[in-house]
Amino acid sequence: MRTTTLLLHARGLAASVPLALSLGCAAQEPEAAQEPTFWQDVAPITSSKCAACHQEGGLAPFRLDDYTSAKARAGAIDDAVQGGHMPPFLVAHDGSCGDFKDEATLTAEELDIIHRWATGARAEGTRAGAPPAPPVPTLEGGVDYMTPPIAPVADPENPLAAHDEWRCFQVDPGIDADRFITGYQVTPGVRSIVHHLTLYRVAPSEASLVEGKTNQDLMTELDDASPDRPGWECFGGPADGLPFQPVFGWAPGQDVVEFPGRTGAPVTTKDHFVVQVHYNLHDHAGAAAEDSTRVRLRYEDTVERRAVFIGDDGFLTSLFEPDGPDTLPPGQQNAATTWSRTREELALDPALPPIEVLGVMPHMHERGRTFELRVASGTQESCIARVDDWDVHWQGVYWYRTPPLLDPSSSIKVTCSFDTRDAEAPALPGWGTQNEMCNANILVALPMTP
Ligand code: HEC
Repeated sequence: MRTTTLLLHARGLAASVPLALSLGCAAQEPEAAQEPTFWQDVAPITSSKCAACHQEGGLAPFRLDDYTSAKARAGAIDDAVQGGHMPPFLVAHDGSCGDFKDEATLTAEELDIIHRWATGARAEGTRAGAPPAPPVPTLEGGVDYMTPPIAPVADPENPLAAHDEWRCFQVDPGIDADRFITGYQVTPGVRSIVHHLTLYRVAPSEASLVEGKTNQDLMTELDDASPDRPGWECFGGPADGLPFQPVFGWAPGQDVVEFPGRTGAPVTTKDHFVVQVHYNLHDHAGAAAEDSTRVRLRYEDTVERRAVFIGDDGFLTSLFEPDGPDTLPPGQQNAATTWSRTREELALDPALPPIEVLGVMPHMHERGRTFELRVASGTQESCIARVDDWDVHWQGVYWYRTPPLLDPSSSIKVTCSFDTRDAEAPALPGWGTQNEMCNANILVALPMTP
């Protein structure tokens, strides 16, 4: 057994019990008796499941491709993986609700190895032969756009966003033929303040929703209203009067995102982008350092289906209803709100056959606790995404291995719960970090011709 183990170690593989047994070894629980070492046992796991973020230049604040750094945080590592916080994956993926691609999850054996190392001698082992950290993820073949440098400031007078600034910037994609966006990567200049980013498509030369004005007329007016600062203030969408055509939404926790299933978001030569950045200044006393965020887009000439993000939030839209807004009672551990929409209300053509939902991105703010998205079709109702322990810092897009379907009679039902124990008055929906949202974003695949 000893020889087998050493051989496997020398090739940089974690010696696992089933592997040892399959080699004809009869020893009972041979690994349990051995002290795992960092380079031989832990690094093969952290290299494939942690180091893409936890390395020099990665998304995470410390390295896990280095013995000294990992050893110093062994207890936290064990807590984070046993508690399911790391690697970050917020939606339940135990089969109870939706079938997600979740390759990053740790196996029971990997959890056991980390636990034994972290709570044992935390030995180093020998570095030779241990796997190197994978490259920092980057979107290959991407084109970079930068938002203009700006030092955001909050407007304490605005009850819907007293700790935030929402700014929109017009960006020319500079493409010479109609294309499809098939992937994106957003890299904030100042991570601690960039709360989310949405990219909208707007054709400057087309008529706006304001009589007699083109979209460009409106954008120029908006931009000129604050000549000393780039862009304009914008909540919810690119601005009143501009068409609402989101291409994607980014939030902390997303790194490289590639649309699955040969889908892409169309962009024509007539289009510009409006890039909306939500700056959260809550922890920065209302002002922060200058940010310039990079948006990297990958274009392709052809795809098989259109990828369309559909975002809705019945809690937020209650702000505009005559008997609204809905509010959350203060002082509760679990203040819940529920809303629903039919497929048609989501602006999906009733003539289309069942539509595949490729991915989901739940969105709430800092008081968010739980989130659930269900689909009802006829008498059937099923859960397609659930977050049991919301974390505002992790808002990935989660991709389905088996995409759920929305048939023409389907409706979606979204339930969010919030911890309002720190609130003195009923909490309002709104765009500010201290207001709340119960926002479901789904990425659907639609046929090429609308
Ligand atoms: C997608 C990128 C990513 C991956 C993959 C990832 N981490 Fe992290 N990790 C982060 C970021 C960013 C932070 C800091 C922000 C935070 O704590 O949420 C962090 C924080 C941590 C912390 C600090 C305590 C805590 O729970 O927040 C530990 C410990 C940790 N990670 C361990 C791991 C381990 C172990 C793995 C692999 C099994 C891993 N991480 C995988 C990005 C990642």
